[in-house]
Amino acid sequence: MATTKTPPPRHFLTLRDLAPEELRRMLRRASELKAMQRRGERYQPLVNRTLAMIFEKSSTRTRVSFEVGMAQFGGHALFLSPRDTQLGRGEPIEDSARVLSRMVDAIMIRTFEHSKVERFSAHSLVPVINGLTDRFHPCQLLADMQTYLEHRGDIAGKTVLWVGDGNNMCHSYINAAAQLDFRLRIACPEGYEPEAAVLQAAAGRCEILRDPIAAAEGVDLVVTDVWASMGQESEQAERARAFAGFRVDAALMSRAHPEALFMHCLPAHRGEEVTAEVIDGPQAVVWDEAENRLHAQKALLELLLIGEVAT
Ligand code: CP
Ligand code: NVA
Repeated sequence: MATTKTPPPRHFLTLRDLAPEELRRMLRRASELKAMQRRGERYQPLVNRTLAMIFEKSSTRTRVSFEVGMAQFGGHALFLSPRDTQLGRGEPIEDSARVLSRMVDAIMIRTFEHSKVERFSAHSLVPVINGLTDRFHPCQLLADMQTYLEHRGDIAGKTVLWVGDGNNMCHSYINAAAQLDFRLRIACPEGYEPEAAVLQAAAGRCEILRDPIAAAEGVDLVVTDVWASMGQESEQAERARAFAGFRVDAALMSRAHPEALFMHCLPAHRGEEVTAEVIDGPQAVVWDEAENRLHAQKALLELLLIGEVAT
């Protein structure tokens, strides 16, 4: 029997899986898909296609945006939790990848160790999407960068301030700085810096600073995130002490450029990493940012499952 060799699937585990120009095109496409949806245009390129979604951590935005995106595209999404699949009973990740990828067309995973999505993707016959790991959250960056583009235009040459933990979101901002050519100031307490290996990816574009107020001087975008990420609940009190001086408040925002935006991937803790005045204030674009998860991920699914779409 003649066998045809299928090309290996394209995965999206970090932003670096996209070429910079491809990322820029995808952001424009996301806004176009958003406009089409608003006009009530029916566009269903994924009829009969299925996305499996494995969630080993909680989610509101990621789950709903992928599920709704697949529905709008005419396809279907399948929610899988370790509580009621064999993954939770110790079936090897490699075997789960082999089995699932023979039945579905793409797989999204939210988990703890980044190495888990790498191992999964190495054994998957279909595209694997990182829906958040302890090290990266690339889907959120698609939405953030789309949001910046829609409100202020190209982010190239701008200065972004990250305030807080050198966590998965911070790592993804570092990758975005490299891909989209912006400067990134990271204001974090000692001991909570991003990984050196990740920083290296954007060497020359990032700097670590200790005074968040001074770091805010003239920046175009201020971003923060929770002080204790999922899986770090036991460190909550210790982290609250370490990050006490790293709250985004009106005083910090007043040092930024007058047109500066504020973003937060959500969920947020008002009174901890950000004051209510800022997150509910005029510079915050957090609701657009949350909505854009839907549009940006539709553009991602389109690219991974159909290929380049002429825009
Ligand atoms: N921002 C984000 O990923 O939200 P969820 O945890 O609700 O998916
Ligand atoms: N850093 C946060 C992001 C949540 C979307 C976490 O990992 O919990």
